[in-house]
This record gives sequence, structure tokens and C-alpha cells, in this order.
Amino acid sequence: GAPVTEDISKLEVGQRIVLQWRGQPVWIIRRTPEQLAALPSQDGRLRDPKSDNPEQQPDYAKNETRSIKPEILVLVGTCTHLGCSPTFRPELEPQPFDAEWKGGFYCPCHNSRFDLAGRVYQGVPAPTNLKVPPYRFLDDSRIEIG
Ligand code: FES
Repeated sequence: GAPVTEDISKLEVGQRIVLQWRGQPVWIIRRTPEQLAALPSQDGRLRDPKSDNPEQQPDYAKNETRSIKPEILVLVGTCTHLGCSPTFRPELEPQPFDAEWKGGFYCPCHNSRFDLAGRVYQGVPAPTNLKVPPYRFLDDSRIEIG
């Protein structure tokens, strides 16, 4: 499939946009400073906190935020268990299913949870972190996926 370009200049802090790339949903999220600050607090509860599985992100996204620019998260929006689409849960507040939840993505099919870098929690069916697709910034406001 051809690369897809998206202008994110109107993407507000804390918001997500969804686009299609190779027949899959791709999410672009502009994370808040609070959401970014909360990421390290989840490391001990995650299956692959350092993104060591090279299948799940390009090398340039193998870092704490799993992204090129810390605030901008780009993910394939497909659960790594059986392919449902996880819901976006940006709130840092506790959730009914996890009192220490710091926001992220919740897959309603079989209760898999991911943090706001798409990193999978321990003890859920999804085996790996959500995938970061190949992408690059063409300039300050345009991202090319693929
Ligand atoms: Fe997401 Fe099974 S498809 S938990």
C-alpha cells in the first residue's frame, strides 16, 4: 500500500485522530504532559516495558514514549490478540477494571489493556505491545505513515 499523509496541526492536546493505512486503523494521539509523566510508573506492570520486541515498532520508536516526538503517539489500532479495535481511555483516573490505571487503551473483546504508549499489561490475552507503524515527519505538521 501507498504511504498516507496526515496534517496534525489541528490535533489538540489529549485528542486522537483515526485514519486508514493498508486497510488498518492508525491512531495519532497528542499526549498531555501528565500522560507522558505517568508512563514510567507503569513499567513494572507491563510485559515488554522497554519495547524489546523488534516486530512491534521501528528502532526510532524503541524508547520510553515509543515515538519520535515524545507527545505524538502513532499506533496501529488493532489489538495484538485477535484483532479487535481497543477503545481509547485517555483518563488518568482509576477504571473499574484497574484501580491503578493511568490511561491507555482497553480491548473489550477479551479485556486486554495497554498503556498510553500502547504497551501491553501483564496478565491479559494480548501477547505484545500495540504496533507502531513506520512513519516520519515531513515537516512540523505533516506525518507520513508507511
Ligand atoms: Fe483484544 Fe482479544 S482481541 S483482547
